[in-house]
Amino acid sequence: MLGPKKKVYIKTFGCQMNVADSEQMAQVLADAYAPTDRPEEADLYLINTCAIRRKAESKVRSLLGSLQVLKQRRPHMLLGVGGCVAQQEGERLLAAVPHLDLVFGAHGICRLPEMVRRAAQGRRVVDIELAREFPPQPRRRWAPGAVKALVTIMQGCNNFCSFCVVPYVRGREYSRPPREIVTEVADFLAAGGKEVTLLGQNVNSYGRGLPEPITFTELLRQIDALPGLARLRFATSHPRDLSAELIAAFGELPSLCEHLHLPVQSGADRILQAMNRGYTREDYLQKVAELRRVCPGLSLSTDIIVGFPGETEEDFQGTMDLVRQAAFDQAFSFKYSPRPQTRAALLPERVPAEVQAERLARLQNLLNELTFKAHRRLVGRDHEVLVEGISKRSPEELCGRLRTNQVVNFSGPRELVGQLVMVRIAEAHPHSLKGIQAEGCSITWPLAADPQAPQRRVSC
Ligand code: SAH
Ligand code: SF4
Ligand code: F3S
Repeated sequence: MLGPKKKVYIKTFGCQMNVADSEQMAQVLADAYAPTDRPEEADLYLINTCAIRRKAESKVRSLLGSLQVLKQRRPHMLLGVGGCVAQQEGERLLAAVPHLDLVFGAHGICRLPEMVRRAAQGRRVVDIELAREFPPQPRRRWAPGAVKALVTIMQGCNNFCSFCVVPYVRGREYSRPPREIVTEVADFLAAGGKEVTLLGQNVNSYGRGLPEPITFTELLRQIDALPGLARLRFATSHPRDLSAELIAAFGELPSLCEHLHLPVQSGADRILQAMNRGYTREDYLQKVAELRRVCPGLSLSTDIIVGFPGETEEDFQGTMDLVRQAAFDQAFSFKYSPRPQTRAALLPERVPAEVQAERLARLQNLLNELTFKAHRRLVGRDHEVLVEGISKRSPEELCGRLRTNQVVNFSGPRELVGQLVMVRIAEAHPHSLKGIQAEGCSITWPLAADPQAPQRRVSC
């Protein structure tokens, strides 16, 4: 008889693509390892890493240092580093960290069981080979009760923005065959899932290089047509490749949520050009205006880098001004961080750290104001909420998201987790909303098994 399974603990840093990759790691290891959320009982400890900024990389290095103690206490425990720092550093990481057993890149996940077997025999393993196509994926098993799914539709990036390490650590861009994606989503919906987020570094260029060409919007249409899908999202969109067809989809596809993450990076043309982004501030603002015309309730979020080499106060004012014009509901903002191999790292005109910090503080003040204002606009109205779980702030409260992606906490029975409910927004806070379940309102959802049921019915 087989003994109990060993335990794997996976610590994930970085973007949603890494979150999806960690889920895949757990799945390919599932025959031998059961996941645990307690690192101290792990037989296999994996760290899925991010190399996007120096700070992200430092976090991994300090965690690795601190794990020496756990490894001494549990000498049989295998320690592995995967993801973008692993890809960037390879052998160097093994040399620098004596208690490390395996190093593997994002493209090596399917080979993980074999790597772990070799490491268990006492060998130190490095696998950072980059694939030349989207690797075939094993059929995914969905946990009962899973509400949201991250579905990777492409890997890599061909854009080579001058600041960005992703094309070096994730390789060239490859699209996943549409049939595989649609089957994966259909399986998830059949298991009771409600929300799907399609992932890629630049989803707008989806389909390039596939034997049967297909646009990203066509893929969205095929997925939107699947019975039982309540919410469809995607990330990330490159503004240069945001087509008129995709903009129009926001007015056409019922499941496509009224939220778009559209990283602008800077509001100054000179800087956008030095970043190799391929659009101007005017191009960006025009696309935003068109999106708002097609979908007036659209919530827009973005990413911004301050202190890119050569950025003047005037360039920075261009960014502040664009932020006001675009009226972002949410934004992630960062100080420029030079990355290995990238072109911008060689540029001479570095912006001093204190100037970067001061600009970031001014920008974040403005962004916080805009987010709070967007939250206040929602107060007093009823919104559809997908209940995701128990609130982190209080075990008495549930927490979920609006279609426009804002987080809302409200009181309600635990049975609502995984359901769509109508919630009246009662209070706006800087980073969240508080609501009350709207009385007499219910949302019924067609079961995947009953494709003839009405698409969507909200009764109040
Ligand atoms: N593929 C996405 C972004 C992926 S990285 C896109 O094209 O927009 C997520 C964000 O990290 C980027 O949008 C950018 O704002 C930020 N970022 C990337 N490299 C950076 C660097 N070297 N320094 C600071 N921020 C960076
Ligand atoms: Fe990086 Fe640019 Fe590719 Fe985004 S599009 S991953 S910022 S190179
Ligand atoms: Fe980080 Fe790699 Fe994602 S560098 S942002 S984890 S693709």
